[in-house]
Amino acid sequence: MSERPLVLLSESLPEDWIFELTSATAPELEVHVGLDVDAKSASRVRALLTMLTVTVDDALLGRFEQLRVVSNMAVGFDNIDVQACAQRGVRVGNTPGVLTDATADLAMGLIVAGARGFESARRDAAAGDWGPWSPTAWLGLELRGATLGIVGLGEIGAAVAGRARAFGMRIVYCGPNPKPVADELEAQYLSYDELLSCSDIVSLHCPLDEHTRGLVGAKSFARMRDHAVLVNTARGPVVDTSALFEALRKGQIRGAALDVTDPEPLPHTHPLFSCARCLIVPHLGSATTHTRKAMAQRAVQNILAALNDDRMPSEVMPRS
Ligand code: DGY
Repeated sequence: MSERPLVLLSESLPEDWIFELTSATAPELEVHVGLDVDAKSASRVRALLTMLTVTVDDALLGRFEQLRVVSNMAVGFDNIDVQACAQRGVRVGNTPGVLTDATADLAMGLIVAGARGFESARRDAAAGDWGPWSPTAWLGLELRGATLGIVGLGEIGAAVAGRARAFGMRIVYCGPNPKPVADELEAQYLSYDELLSCSDIVSLHCPLDEHTRGLVGAKSFARMRDHAVLVNTARGPVVDTSALFEALRKGQIRGAALDVTDPEPLPHTHPLFSCARCLIVPHLGSATTHTRKAMAQRAVQNILAALNDDRMPSEVMPRS
């Protein structure tokens, strides 16, 4: 029976994405796919490489007495109880930066798709409701001159704002504090309520935490312009799904374009799928081969650094 320290991957990953874990550079480590291991193996576990679908709470941490690092292959870490990790001396890593462009590209795609009503037009065409070209059919919102409201001007929010500037959009943003990057984006800092009232598109880029869970609910939709589009590439639970459905049903907003949902995955029978003005894609913001490989490599580097007691490339610090 091996005595080597064990690294558990919550999902199988392509060999060339994690070669630094399995190659000669880390010969002392054993890698296993799956978090369910017997008690003897559990005592050898030093690192977990987790996906955002794994809830890392005290119960999970308690199974691995010698655990030293949890490395999430995501920039978001709302699936991890960071305080519980800190209390057990377990370091936490995430993968910011490497997925910024891929996610911002997807968000910009959803902004265009939402503004121009891709989903309802596609459904009409596929249903045989595509008559001769008409000057008044499928009219959307012009992006040049429209106002994009960014909720959370972090790295991804700023990257989306940069793309939207190239489309001629005016940028407003909200968040806990004004951001220096706003100057070069000519972005105006507003309160959340002000942003909702003046934006043609509202795009969410905030983390999911106790301040943002359910942030976009019935009151928010009542404030939004009736031609506005909501875009969510952040986390599903930032939006109250029932309130969104009602807002779309009542025509309080023009439409929504979602990469993330609550619940996730959204069951195919969910009423939101019946709504033609709601475009839903299955959480693929970072889903390019280049980016997913970079995320896996960063997650591996975080593990190797933590096991060497080094500075991790991307460490999540507990709140003090
Ligand atoms: C993240 O990294 O948090 C995304 O949701 C998945 O790439």
